[in-house]
Amino acid sequence: MTISNNINVATPKKWMDGWDKIYSQMLSAPDDELARIDVGHRTQQLEHALAITKTDTSGLKVLELGSGDGNVACYLARLGCHVVGVDALASAIALAQRKAKILGFSDRVEFRLDDIDGWSIPEESYDVVIAMQCLQYLFDRTIPRLREVMAAVKPGGFFVYSGNIPPHFETEPPIRFVTADELRTELEGWTLHAFGTEERILHPNDLRGYVWVVARKPL
Ligand SMILES: C[S@@+](CC[C@H](N)C(=O)[O-])C[C@H]1O[C@@H](n2cnc3c(N)ncnc32)[C@H](O)[C@@H]1O
Repeated sequence: MTISNNINVATPKKWMDGWDKIYSQMLSAPDDELARIDVGHRTQQLEHALAITKTDTSGLKVLELGSGDGNVACYLARLGCHVVGVDALASAIALAQRKAKILGFSDRVEFRLDDIDGWSIPEESYDVVIAMQCLQYLFDRTIPRLREVMAAVKPGGFFVYSGNIPPHFETEPPIRFVTADELRTELEGWTLHAFGTEERILHPNDLRGYVWVVARKPL
């Protein structure tokens, strides 16, 4: 399936094309396959944020940047959250919308075809903001946008982040790695409920570093 109308973004076309291919393939899966919600290794990070927030997670307002296949948004919708997901690929939006519809969550999720950068987010407007594996592709805008999305979290709300750090294969242009030290500096004054780095072998000879954080904004 070929889907156009993608948004032009700073992320190199080569990488966007790669994700587009994956989402387009997933779009042709039958309904029962798409009805499965798989957030993989992110489960602990997401539940951590929600568990601390309150036992009743219904009605929490969540913004997810780079929402991709919609698994994270649907996982949170199943817990009662209202999620706005943003992605620049029409295939991602179509896939996420279809998944939400099959699961009956269309009234709780909204997927927007847009750049994750370049628009203002009202300050202190979301209970949870999620930015997993996407801000690093904004290059010189990575840190400024990180600060903007952190400002969008309500007092007492959560920021859930993950990104790559070395070791990582070389890319052109190079990914803007946000190091663990930089994150700690940016999140000064926040409570770090979970903070970790890890290395994963994605393919043979392809060792990648990750940093992830669940942080709570002071009240
Ligand atoms: C590595 S995938 C991560 C997807 C998901 N957050 C996850 O952790 O599995 C990166 C996602 O961000 C999206 N993306 C990358 N740059 C973007 C931009 N500037 N604006 C909107 N979406 C972008 C891609 O289309 C893709 O869905």
